[in-house]
Amino acid sequence: MSRRKKLYEGKAKILYEGPEPGTLVQYFKDDATAFNAQKKAILSGKGVLNNRISEYIMIALERINIPTHFIKRINMREQLIKKVEIVPLEVICRNVAAGSICKMFGLEEGKPLPRSIIEFCYKEDKLNDPLVCEEHILAFGWATANEVDEMTAMALRINDFLCGMFAAIGIRLVDFKIEFGRHTDKNGNIELLLADEISPDSCRLWDLETDKKLDKDRFRRDLGDVTEAYTEVATRLGILKANPTTSPTLSIVPNGDK
Ligand code: TMP
Repeated sequence: MSRRKKLYEGKAKILYEGPEPGTLVQYFKDDATAFNAQKKAILSGKGVLNNRISEYIMIALERINIPTHFIKRINMREQLIKKVEIVPLEVICRNVAAGSICKMFGLEEGKPLPRSIIEFCYKEDKLNDPLVCEEHILAFGWATANEVDEMTAMALRINDFLCGMFAAIGIRLVDFKIEFGRHTDKNGNIELLLADEISPDSCRLWDLETDKKLDKDRFRRDLGDVTEAYTEVATRLGILKANPTTSPTLSIVPNGDK
């Protein structure tokens, strides 16, 4: 990777210049952080798992006509993606009360919400990604009213699809965070694309029968077996062979699709 120019290093991923204009290479690290990087660890194999899980989900979403930044997976840790200008908002969709919404409104964790809830947070680590409303978004110019509508509609469609996809493998999609970016095509048209990643780092995934957490809360809450849980998700999705004792880096099912 050293021959490629590094453009940005985040907490869990690195972006390199892509082979063609308008493309980037997204590299998945093994680094795990929580509470705005106050808690850190290296979880061996996490990047490989998230690369494959995110690839699987982005391809599935493209099939239902959600436009994404994903072009193709290059290797175990890298994907080729479309270059976008990231909208500085984290879009959160919740189906079941967990995490910050429980603290904010005094809700019991695990209680289904009366309906799916979409939240926007301003993406700014220095401020701890505060929850914002549309008034803030429009007043500060983080996105237009049209973009807010588009992001909300896409988040709800993604939620519907992913709830079904995970339910089919015995997993409850409790909540997730997504990010969007503006891509300028060759003709100068700007399109809003689903960007970043969707993986157990950015979702809450609970086993439907036991409520076992299969996501980054295992790291946040010191529950242990973090990569084992991510491996379980990948295995149920059919990305890994069903052999929990094999290292994820060695047991990935070679796929012909990408
Ligand atoms: P929260 O309950 O902590 O607000 O998290 C809601 C969802 O967003 C949960 O699935 C975890 C995900 N998330 C991220 O992907 N990145 C973050 O920085 C935070 C705080 C949450």
